[in-house]
Amino acid sequence: MTTLVIEERILKSRDRVRAYGEVFTPRHMVDQMLDLVSDDLEDGPDFVDKTFLEPAAGDGNFLVAILHRKLRAIERRLSSDVWADESLFALASIYGIELLEDNHEEARVAMLDEFVDFHRQHNTSFSPDSDVMRAARFIVDTNIVRGNTLTGRDWRGDEIQFSWWTRVAHSPGTVQREPFSLASLRESNGFDFTVYETYAVCRIARVHEEVRAGA
Ligand SMILES: C[S@@+](CC[C@H](N)C(=O)[O-])C[C@H]1O[C@@H](n2cnc3c(N)ncnc32)[C@H](O)[C@@H]1O
Repeated sequence: MTTLVIEERILKSRDRVRAYGEVFTPRHMVDQMLDLVSDDLEDGPDFVDKTFLEPAAGDGNFLVAILHRKLRAIERRLSSDVWADESLFALASIYGIELLEDNHEEARVAMLDEFVDFHRQHNTSFSPDSDVMRAARFIVDTNIVRGNTLTGRDWRGDEIQFSWWTRVAHSPGTVQREPFSLASLRESNGFDFTVYETYAVCRIARVHEEVRAGA
């Protein structure tokens, strides 16, 4: 019997290791680390909404593995009529920051590929133009940011802004988007929600429409 061993790439170049500390965690270690938080990630109550922030996201290896586990737990534990909305809430709970353009792009693409794979397995006519897919792209673009975690600035020099995607009580599948800055996560007086644009409550599959409060 022949055994094929596929080497995982953990370095892109020595220069990048020196300049950016870029060494990727191998998949088996990612899995071992996520096993340590499997209660929050897939076994416990409210697992879909448990929040993860990867401040040095690399090519998205942790982010994708987290999404993978959440999606499989959704499949195992929830009824199929809520899978579309819950898969979007799962995406909305995962945040990342990455300095380098190519890694950032790889992370975004890998998250969307994971999301599409999940839906394609259950719905062969799943369309890239569907609202679910548009919302997924929008959430990934909002949550996975190209920037510098240490300075709190994105690649354009603007303050890194994230959004909470808060479930609306007694209204399944709906969300309230609340922007805040990364910097405010570090401050003792809390999130700076009030200084940013406010959004209307909407279905999570329509967040890409960005309807403003009061519109
Ligand atoms: C050691 S790699 C880890 C990647 C991934 N977290 C993993 O464990 O495989 C560090 C990553 O952080 C990025 N990085 C370095 N400094 C950063 C900073 N100040 N803000 C955001 N990302 C940064 C690098 O570009 C690189 O992709």
